[in-house]
Amino acid sequence: MEHKGFTLWFTGLACSGKTVLADKVAEELRSRGMKVERLDGDTVRKGLTRDLGFSDEDRRMNIERVTFVAKLLTRNGVAVLASFISPFNDIRAYSRKEIGDYILVYVKCSLEGCEKRDTKGMYARARAGEIKDFTGIDSPFEEPDNADIIVETDKQTIEESKNFILQKLNIMGYLPRL
Ligand code: ADX
Repeated sequence: MEHKGFTLWFTGLACSGKTVLADKVAEELRSRGMKVERLDGDTVRKGLTRDLGFSDEDRRMNIERVTFVAKLLTRNGVAVLASFISPFNDIRAYSRKEIGDYILVYVKCSLEGCEKRDTKGMYARARAGEIKDFTGIDSPFEEPDNADIIVETDKQTIEESKNFILQKLNIMGYLPRL
């Protein structure tokens, strides 16, 4: 089905729910016949950006490369769902400017909430000093100053957050008519 391309960009702390939410929204968009691609930190960092670490500079480079890919897909009519911590306002502003049809979703969850989930045990390792420059522990996360959509995953269910995002996309005119 022909539709306008866009990038829905999920930002938030590790374990905030970015990946699961982006996957769920992707599933919905595919079921409407849309062309969808997923770009996710954990997978992209095994390929395109495997040479990069987690210094501020490397994080910026990571997002710059992903932005390049998202831009190409977006202008070819793909719905891109990108999930990256992307912790800085300047680099998120860069992505918005480059991609154009860019919708920023802030997946908001308190550090305590994320740490409680700790799905991969990384917060515990960061607290123990085994992982350096861990976001929220010894590396900053700037709250977005211009999110288009905010979901609160420690207050809403994943289903509620997903539906809220789909509603917003619909209002913004990014969903094809069923
Ligand atoms: S970003 O800051 O450059 O946007 P990205 O989303 O690609 O980060 O990668 C985050 C993922 O890398 C996390 O889900 C986690 O599994 C892993 N990771 C490994 N080291 C770190 C770290 N120091 N800080 C944050 N995430 C890390």
